[in-house]
Amino acid sequence: MVKIIAVLGGKGGCGKSSCSIGLSLALCELKKRVLLIDMDEGMRCLDMLLGVSESLLFDASDAVNGRELYSCILPVKNTPNLSLLAAPSEKGLIRPDAFGKFVGTLSNADFDFIVVDLPAGTNEELYKALPTDTEFLCICNPNAVSVRDAANIGQVLGKINRRGRLIINRFEPYFIKNPIFKNIDDIIDESGLCLIGIVPESERLAFAFLGGDFRLIGRAKKAFRRIAERLCGKNLPLPKLKKI
Ligand SMILES: Nc1ncnc2c1ncn2[C@@H]1O[C@H](COP(=O)(O)OP(=O)(O)O)[C@@H](O)[C@H]1O
Ligand SMILES: [Mg+2]
Repeated sequence: MVKIIAVLGGKGGCGKSSCSIGLSLALCELKKRVLLIDMDEGMRCLDMLLGVSESLLFDASDAVNGRELYSCILPVKNTPNLSLLAAPSEKGLIRPDAFGKFVGTLSNADFDFIVVDLPAGTNEELYKALPTDTEFLCICNPNAVSVRDAANIGQVLGKINRRGRLIINRFEPYFIKNPIFKNIDDIIDESGLCLIGIVPESERLAFAFLGGDFRLIGRAKKAFRRIAERLCGKNLPLPKLKKI
C-alpha cells in the first residue's frame, strides 16, 4: 500500500522543497520506490534541483488531467527508485479536488511512497482533497515567525482532522544556548504538532540548490535517514541536540 506524504510549511524558504528531496532520497536508500510530486504550480523547482529539467515534456497538470502517468514522470538520474512529476509552469491548471482524486488513484501504482511538495501557506481545500490517510509534514525553522506559521498549519490540520507532524529545519547546535532562537520544546508546544525529526543547517544542502547535485552527506543525510526510518514505522530516539 502506497504511503502519501505531503510536505508543507508557512513561508517560502523554510525548506519544503529541500526536505521533500532529502526525504525522498533517504527513502530511496531504504529501497523504497518514491514518486516525488512538485505541486508548487508556477514556481516549479524540483526538476531543476534534480537535474532533469531538460527531459521535461509533460507535468503534473497533464497527469492529473488524464495523460498516461508514465509518460509524465521523469526518472531521476543515479537514483533508480526515484521519479519526479514536475509542477506546471503556470498557476491554476490543477484543481484541488482533481489532484486529490489523482493521488487516490496512485494507490495501485508501482510506488511505496508519494511525496508531495506543497506550495507555501495554507490551503485547506487542497489538504481536504488529499486521501484521508495522507501524512502531513510541516517544515518549521527555529524562529518565532516560522513557529507561528507551523501553529497555524497545525490548527488547520486539526480542524479538518488530518494527521500532521513537525520537521524542524536549519537547526544549529549553538542555538540551544542562545535565547534568541526558539528551543525545541517550545517549538513543539507552540506548534501543537508532534516532532518527527530535526534537520541541521547544512552547507551541502545549500550548495545542492546552486549546482543541481543533490547527493547529501554528513549530518543532513543522517537526519533525513532517521525521518525516513520513522516514516517506515521504526521507533528511533532523537539524538543529543549537539550531535544533530
Ligand atoms: N537545512 C538547510 N541547510 C542549509 N540551507 C537550507 C536548508 N534547508 C533549506 N535551505 C536553503 O533555503 C533556501 C530555501 O529552501 P527551499 O527548500 O526552496 O524552501 P521552500 O521550498 O520552503 O521555499 C534554499 O536556498 C535552500 O538551499
Ligand atoms: Mg519550494
